[in-house]
Amino acid sequence: MSYPSISFRFALFLSFSLTASLPVFSKRYTPSSSSTPKATPSDLLSLLGSKTQSLAVNPVVARHLKSCFKFLVPFSPTDPHHRKLGLGLGLGPSRSKDNDLIWWPPEPVLELARLSVDSGGDPAAIHRLLDPTIIPVPDVEGSTEERCELTRTPYGRRFICEELNLYLQFLFQLIVDRGPSVGLDVKLNRFDLFHGHLFLAVDSGRLGILFHAKEYPAYDKQVFPYNMGFCQRGSNVTYDDSMNLRNILWLAPMPGDSDESWVAPGVLVVLDARPDGIIYRDLIPDYVNFARTIYEDDFGDVAVDVNYLNVGSKTRNYQLFIC
Ligand SMILES: *[C@@H]1O[C@H](CO)[C@@H](O)[C@H](O)[C@H]1NC(C)=O
Repeated sequence: MSYPSISFRFALFLSFSLTASLPVFSKRYTPSSSSTPKATPSDLLSLLGSKTQSLAVNPVVARHLKSCFKFLVPFSPTDPHHRKLGLGLGLGPSRSKDNDLIWWPPEPVLELARLSVDSGGDPAAIHRLLDPTIIPVPDVEGSTEERCELTRTPYGRRFICEELNLYLQFLFQLIVDRGPSVGLDVKLNRFDLFHGHLFLAVDSGRLGILFHAKEYPAYDKQVFPYNMGFCQRGSNVTYDDSMNLRNILWLAPMPGDSDESWVAPGVLVVLDARPDGIIYRDLIPDYVNFARTIYEDDFGDVAVDVNYLNVGSKTRNYQLFIC
């Protein structure tokens, strides 16, 4: 049995080594955009940062990356000095109010953003702001019966500052509300959107959250033949083109050097991982390309996971668990 397999491998080796030297080989087997330099996660973050950061990215890479940005809130790298202060809650149409809350979040979120950068991107700076009280994660939409554990730990915590907790909930809600505008039909439930990873970016220390929607697509012999364990059982998430849109990035405003200045507003964007785009090519590891997962660790040091779970039994009741 082993003899034919060895000779088969040898034959393969031969054919590779013979053809590899021919230019046509590389032309045929690499994507057409092979001349585009490789995009990195920090290129992506830089493009959503200050003017200086953004200009440092290779222009070809920048163009390709930008074609994969689907903004849920218009990207507005306006002169940060034009930052509007004292936004009154309840003033103006709610759509523009929600945009403002992404561009320039409430004071406690801004403080957190500055703290992240000032700490040099140290996750411990975030941990210190959590209430030590431990909150057990109860059943989520029948998860217990399936022996499914959705969270990294069986308990979670919350920020001491209630406004921070409310802001995180607002982010989940806004993703669900605005998703359809870019083709992302997303629901808040245990198979679809329920978590994000809060990170402090490499190099800059900028605060961000990478949300993952469509976490457990239903097993399907034809379109999604992957067994993902207990949490996938009973899933009603269909595997389709909207999987390309499952990575959603929030970035806090980027503080400047002085105590008061800001060099970039906040961002909420869907990262399109369509197979002919540069995000798919360069930022999705090959072994998860079917799931279109961008890894949070590629963006920075992960401080906590934020989970927004429906723990109601009869009626919906969404609660935040920071794990
Ligand atoms: C899908 O499953 C979730 C979680 O059990 C549930 O809340 C939701 O209503 C289901 N959606 C549909 C369309 O059945």
